[in-house]
Amino acid sequence: MSKLALRDLDVRGKHVLVRVDFNVPTEERNGAIVITDDTRIQESLPTIQFLREHGAKTILTAHFGRPKGQPVEKYSLRPVGLALHDLIGHPVAFSHDCIGPDAEAIVADMEEGDVTLLENLRFHPEEEANDPKFAEALAQLSDGLYVNDAFGAAHRAHASTAGITQFVSQAAMGFLMEKELKYLHEELAQPRPPFLVIMGGAKVSDKIGVIKALMEKADVFLICGAMANTFFKAQGIPIGASRVEADKIDLARELLDFAGKKGVKFLLPVDVLETNEIKTGAATEQSGRLSPNDGVRDGWQAVDLGRESIELFQNEIARAGTVLWNGPPGIFEIPDFAAGTIAVAEALAKSNATTIIGGGDSVTAVKQAGLADKMTFISTGGGASLELIEGKELPGVAALSDK
Ligand code: 3PG
Repeated sequence: MSKLALRDLDVRGKHVLVRVDFNVPTEERNGAIVITDDTRIQESLPTIQFLREHGAKTILTAHFGRPKGQPVEKYSLRPVGLALHDLIGHPVAFSHDCIGPDAEAIVADMEEGDVTLLENLRFHPEEEANDPKFAEALAQLSDGLYVNDAFGAAHRAHASTAGITQFVSQAAMGFLMEKELKYLHEELAQPRPPFLVIMGGAKVSDKIGVIKALMEKADVFLICGAMANTFFKAQGIPIGASRVEADKIDLARELLDFAGKKGVKFLLPVDVLETNEIKTGAATEQSGRLSPNDGVRDGWQAVDLGRESIELFQNEIARAGTVLWNGPPGIFEIPDFAAGTIAVAEALAKSNATTIIGGGDSVTAVKQAGLADKMTFISTGGGASLELIEGKELPGVAALSDK
């Protein structure tokens, strides 16, 4: 995957259009939109600062939420522009439309080192439709130079991530994109053994492709979270009122067989923490050792790893050469059910393995535990990380210029 990189471009004095992923979580507080996690903005800074230091005129373009092709005030990128201004200590001009006369006028006024942020691309239906005219209008804001740093959106074949590259002379990856590909693609292509995959989250159906692909490489799987319930059920273990995908039980059985045939160690929790209500302060009980005769109590639900399982997870992590973690083992948002997730994060922080956190809720968990800086790499992608790990080609990467 030898693609042109930002450092290969001659950007001085040029307008460079940069696709970033500023799709950050926000909250409304006293009528104002507040960014609750600015990681994606922070992670774009190396690319933005490099461009500024090298005298480029940086035009940032991004999507925010899913406004369905029309302007929706709550999905405006303006608050992100203000946050970026504070982070780079330089004014960030804002264009109310990502194409058209307003954007053109603001861009024409830029000096070397300046930054402009364009309004949400998805206010136009043409963005998601990958409309060539829209892509061309975006491209024309630049001097033929395009950088894609939006790894989190690279699995989308949209005008700003894929179509646009037809209308520029050079399309390169930014530093964040490069880093994501280095860890999620190159590093995982030949992981230092033993390669341990910790896969959690709610649904087996979301992870089936990635589990199958990783079966070719992983030495050990630890399956956890609500997803494990479907596997318990497939093994005849009573799961009480736990969340389950009833139509995926056969699939879980197939995966267990497949792992057996491949000789992959495919482990489930051996015990769980149970509750009769999902809320702070609810009653909890440790289950016994799970078996077809001894499962989760009737009417109760599994919400975290049990004590023995925590030990099992810690031991496997301590032995691993590489760990990929995607999806928490418990409902860690509720502190009473967070012990398993925190124990996993702490074991990863202590281990000498290459630790790769593959996006989504496990990233939030690692941050909440204050251990983010102890991990080798934390992805900014959700769906994009999973698709890349699964071995799919990402349209936003494939469309970039070859080196
Ligand atoms: C994400 O948050 O995963 C990316 O920004 C992609 O957003 P989307 O799923 O709305 O395309």
